[in-house]
Amino acid sequence: MKVPFCRVDCSSNEVKYVQEVLASGWLTTAGKTFEFEKRFGTAVGGKHAIAVNSCTAALHLALEAVGIGPGDEVLVPTLTFTATAEVVRYVGADPIFVDMEYGSGLITAPSIQDALESHPKVKAVMVVHFAGQAANMPAILDVCRPRGVRVVEDAAHAFPTRCAGRMIGSWGDITCFSFYANKTITTGEGGMLVTDDESLAKRARVMRLHGIDRDIWNRFTASRPSWEYDVVAPGFKYNLSDLAAAVGLAQLERAYEFRDQRQAVAKRYLSALAGLPGVDLPMVHSVPEDHAWHFFWIVLQPEARLNRDAFIEGLMAREIGFSVHYKPLHHMTYYKERYHLRPEDFPNAERHWRGCVSLPLYPGMTEAELDYVIHEVRSLLSPS
Ligand SMILES: Cc1ncc(COP(=O)(O)O)c(C=O)c1O
Repeated sequence: MKVPFCRVDCSSNEVKYVQEVLASGWLTTAGKTFEFEKRFGTAVGGKHAIAVNSCTAALHLALEAVGIGPGDEVLVPTLTFTATAEVVRYVGADPIFVDMEYGSGLITAPSIQDALESHPKVKAVMVVHFAGQAANMPAILDVCRPRGVRVVEDAAHAFPTRCAGRMIGSWGDITCFSFYANKTITTGEGGMLVTDDESLAKRARVMRLHGIDRDIWNRFTASRPSWEYDVVAPGFKYNLSDLAAAVGLAQLERAYEFRDQRQAVAKRYLSALAGLPGVDLPMVHSVPEDHAWHFFWIVLQPEARLNRDAFIEGLMAREIGFSVHYKPLHHMTYYKERYHLRPEDFPNAERHWRGCVSLPLYPGMTEAELDYVIHEVRSLLSPS
């Protein structure tokens, strides 16, 4: 049997909605995008939802909108994808890397508080909702708000995710979602910036499209002449096309169905892999319904039967897909050299990284596929 790491399900209204866009003769940002924005905003409880062509674009727009610029400092967890940190460099600011909680992969309020005390210049925190579990937003906002520190949430993994009864998307200053191909819902490439703050939304909307003071769509439909527009800033080309939004609308209709299926797979892994010697499973703080389970990882401790590399070879030989989330940013040449980062300053991320492997998890994963992965993982890691 061959089990991929992930498999995208576009078997519903995706084709129908894309055909509608093709038939309309207008392929870029227009009605489907606005509908997607409206529905996504409602789904996450945010007032303004702004569709963009990646989560990276959303994160960049977020930092620009909250006013982060050259010389500023921004807290970034070391255990994340490089996009979370690179956008800090896009605006000329510097990331200050912080360790994560071992077990959950999450940045915590106490670690943010410590970092703010040692770096009083920090103006914003990037909160990553690792693997689809929410960081403790009430506690994080309690630390950040009194100090005027902006909170930008990297929710690339976290739709639909809840925290203390409220959706991720309704907490920090700005929340950024990803619809990249392997995410919990996809548009191929795409993202969404969500905020309750009118002025941040206005700025992000303008900067999403070249700093033009009106959307292209408006240019061709509104009463103001289409040739007339102003440029108020050197903006970016980050808008989402209606073709992508059409796929997103169809995916959004099935978000909870997909989430339930992901949760069922994660639940099986949690029970079937419990107790393997030297194998740590993800720590779940939330109730199961609140976790989006973008991915499921195990961490092989030094006492495990195989080390990470040998285990990966075993998976490959058995044609089982896998991934590694993540090689921490303090190991990446650019960040390591520029900021003189040392592994010993990030003990939890080190412990995680040396042994982490993510297993196949996707909606529509069959019982046979799941049984096969569990059986093979158990046989690789059980004492002989
Ligand atoms: C934590 C995190 N942030 C940001 C991104 C970037 O998302 P996108 O590919 O939509 O730009 C990713 C993508 O995998 C991610 O995992």
